[in-house]
Amino acid sequence: MYRLLAPAKINLFLQIVGNCLDGSGYHELVMVMQAVSLMDRVELMPRRDRQIKVRCTNPAVPCDQRNLAYKAAALLQRHFPACQGVEIFIEKRIPVGAGLAGGSTNGAAVLVGLDLLWQLGLTQQELQHFAEELGADVPFCLQGGTALALGRGEQLTPLPDLQDLSVVLGKYRSLSVATPWAYQTYRQEFAATYAQTPSEQEKARQEGGSATLLQAIQQHDLPTLAASLRNDLEKVVLPRYPLVAQLREQFLQAGAIASMMCGSGPTVFALAPSADEGYTIMQRVRRALPDPDLDLWVCECCPHGIQLETP
Ligand code: C5P
Repeated sequence: MYRLLAPAKINLFLQIVGNCLDGSGYHELVMVMQAVSLMDRVELMPRRDRQIKVRCTNPAVPCDQRNLAYKAAALLQRHFPACQGVEIFIEKRIPVGAGLAGGSTNGAAVLVGLDLLWQLGLTQQELQHFAEELGADVPFCLQGGTALALGRGEQLTPLPDLQDLSVVLGKYRSLSVATPWAYQTYRQEFAATYAQTPSEQEKARQEGGSATLLQAIQQHDLPTLAASLRNDLEKVVLPRYPLVAQLREQFLQAGAIASMMCGSGPTVFALAPSADEGYTIMQRVRRALPDPDLDLWVCECCPHGIQLETP
């Protein structure tokens, strides 16, 4: 049996450059992604037959072929037909439909765990290739830490760890956003602004502001880092979900150095220079917004991706 820890992620930067020019329907992005210490636990147990069975502590998670953990196991079984089945148990701590890549990180954990359980001997490059097939965020989830992600999100460059930075997360339990909806709505509203050719896309990438953020990360310059965050999907999600906009504002009023929506939302993150300040911000927001539907977490930047749980 293998037990893995699968971290959530936030986006410090998400610029939509235009449509992918390969006709895939995806968007060409510039992202800076950060793994955080809010993690799911994924257990894998061998089966004697060829079935894939998924169970999850959160009843809102589908346990059939729609689950990325299931898809990851099915993908490896297709490539390695001699493999047996697997029992997958997901202890869900990452909220669902939240913009935190909870599904993607479960898929990444199953790839890492089945490589061990089925003794496939995959190289990092092969794992990365399977991750790409599963979804745009899965390659990052595998690798974790802090990274620049280009293309659909699969072209990764590791960045220096953001040590000591506290991350406060807030999500209304009854709200969830479907990622395809967020991107499709963005396309409907902003397609006229999309860079159309490879050279226009390169220009948009260079002018998008990511260079300032990358330099701030290199130099651990928190004020510049805080001023250079970007998430284009806020333009469609915040007007539709005023509670999300209000939560973002409340984090800033509570003393966060920066606050922004995570991926396609509706989770909002806030940054603080220490865990103590992170907890103070959480308490202030809890007092200002005493809604029992609002969940809050304090976590930290996580310097790794999928890891085996140590006993
Ligand atoms: O790859 P994944 O299934 O996680 O992506 C979910 C949806 O997000 C896609 O179906 C697409 O609508 C949108 N997306 C996109 N461009 C990206 C990543 C995701 O349009 N680079």
